[in-house]
Amino acid sequence: MKAAIYPGTFDPATNGHIDIIRRAANVFDEVTVAVLDNKAKTPLFSVDERVNILKEATKNIPNVKVESFEGLLIDYCKRKDVYVVVRGLRAVTDFEYEFQMSIMNSKLSDGKLETIYFNTDLKYSYLSSSSVKQVAQFKGDLSDFVPDFVADMLLERLGDK
Ligand code: PNS
Repeated sequence: MKAAIYPGTFDPATNGHIDIIRRAANVFDEVTVAVLDNKAKTPLFSVDERVNILKEATKNIPNVKVESFEGLLIDYCKRKDVYVVVRGLRAVTDFEYEFQMSIMNSKLSDGKLETIYFNTDLKYSYLSSSSVKQVAQFKGDLSDFVPDFVADMLLERLGDK
């Protein structure tokens, strides 16, 4: 069975993330979306909320699972015995960060872990969780960026600030 892990912060998941999940699920038999629970950071949505958003957004894709993880990605991959990581690449600007992470993860796994990149669909190339949060803060139209239920959650949390 070909399995892959798609890790990220997903604060919150955008239509760009969901597009990558859908496409990865067409390539791999099983895709586990792994939401980082980073105790050192204060995300807008709790890890449970981020996991639930992704579960709801991917409920119609049978070979997708959503979980959270703490600590190093490579340790999570070892526990799952899955050594393929999927990431989305939006633009050249993403490359350096992704390259660094991929080399680091490869090194930490003695070359066992491979990172596979999906280039983001052009229509999502400008999207990021942080820009979506900014739009929500000023009550902008979020309909092209996130599923409707996520837009409601964002506006409820940020829209009045
Ligand atoms: O969505 P993001 O914030 O770009 O995702 C980054 C993520 C969660 C994939 C990355 O920060 C990560 O894997 N963190 C866990 C810690 C780790 O393993 N670090 C070593 C690789 S640099």
